[in-house]
Amino acid sequence: MTQEIHKIGVLTGGGDAPGLNAVIRAVVKTAINDYGWEVLGIEDGFEGLIQPGKLRPLGLVDVRGILSRGGTILGTTNRANPFDYVVEQDGEMKTFDVSDDVVRKAEVLGLDAVVVIGGDGSMRITQELIEKGFRAVGVPKTIDNDILLTQVTFGFDTAINTAVEALDKLHTTAESHHRVITMEVMGRDAGWIALEAGIAGDADVILIPEIPYDPDCVAEKIRRRYEGGANYSIVVTAEGAHPIDGEQVWEDKDRPGGMPRLGGICEQVADEIRERTETVVRTMVLGYLQRGGTPSAFDRLLATRFGVMAVHLIAEGKLGHMAALRDNRIVSLPIAEVVHRQKLVSLDSDLIRTAFGLEVCLGNWRDEIEKRIVAAEEGN
Ligand code: F6P
Repeated sequence: MTQEIHKIGVLTGGGDAPGLNAVIRAVVKTAINDYGWEVLGIEDGFEGLIQPGKLRPLGLVDVRGILSRGGTILGTTNRANPFDYVVEQDGEMKTFDVSDDVVRKAEVLGLDAVVVIGGDGSMRITQELIEKGFRAVGVPKTIDNDILLTQVTFGFDTAINTAVEALDKLHTTAESHHRVITMEVMGRDAGWIALEAGIAGDADVILIPEIPYDPDCVAEKIRRRYEGGANYSIVVTAEGAHPIDGEQVWEDKDRPGGMPRLGGICEQVADEIRERTETVVRTMVLGYLQRGGTPSAFDRLLATRFGVMAVHLIAEGKLGHMAALRDNRIVSLPIAEVVHRQKLVSLDSDLIRTAFGLEVCLGNWRDEIEKRIVAAEEGN
């Protein structure tokens, strides 16, 4: 028998993504209109269940007009993992496990369930809390689109539109100055933003973490373009891309309580191109523009559908589940099924074949990549 629900909480965790407010709005409206529940907004991710003064009731008025707003009205952080909570004590950063306190706090607040809107990190934390008795459902979000078992996450569409707009602009200046421009986009382990924005934005070279690149191959592509009369080139690099015999490039690897931050690969690639060709190379890091701004219609709709589904999941007693998009339908699946791996670009995907068809350089010689595809198919 499902427990009677009176009050739910909602929080947004991890890096923000366009569409978070659309989820919050959908959760509040459905909880109140369909079920008559109270909704408590928890500020700054799990921090709101750790620190005092970070809770506020959310009514219909509080979510009016937020559908089209980027960011999150609740605030977010990617530094509040209750299992690894970092506090400054006597000038030193110390780590504590406050997960039991979080579970207890939710109980004391009378929360019959919490809607956790977050990426792979937040889903992992949520699952571990669930195992300690936390009552929650999940809504997957990330511009990186790397959460397993959901066709896409909201935020991704807006992010690639931003990246494509930037690429269109870079084309005109690169062409006018006969330059190469390398543009770095987000994507720690998964190259979805680089690959999809790169194809839609007509990049000549696309470097993704799933295909370690060979600088000679990149330089050869640029040389061939010049020989063929195209005196400019556009290179898109995912922040997590790395050379065959090299590491990912970090801007800040030791962040107490936070995720290490990647950054700088577009500079490295630019140097490698300069060393191997005669071309003038400029760089650009697109950065947080990808996470900000008005969500696209696609993201608003997906986020809204996820939010409504999350509330229905609670009503149906499906705690521990999250919303997902499969075959263009909103479905639910256990959070536990998505937390141990990420959804990476598969080398045999049609996107890779599309890039080959357009003669886009994916960082390595085509026959090398094809060899890897065959090896993967044969299970090696
Ligand atoms: O949301 C994921 C992401 O966009 C990654 O691609 C990126 O590495 C990370 O967030 C950066 O987050 P922050 O600088 O906010 O820690």
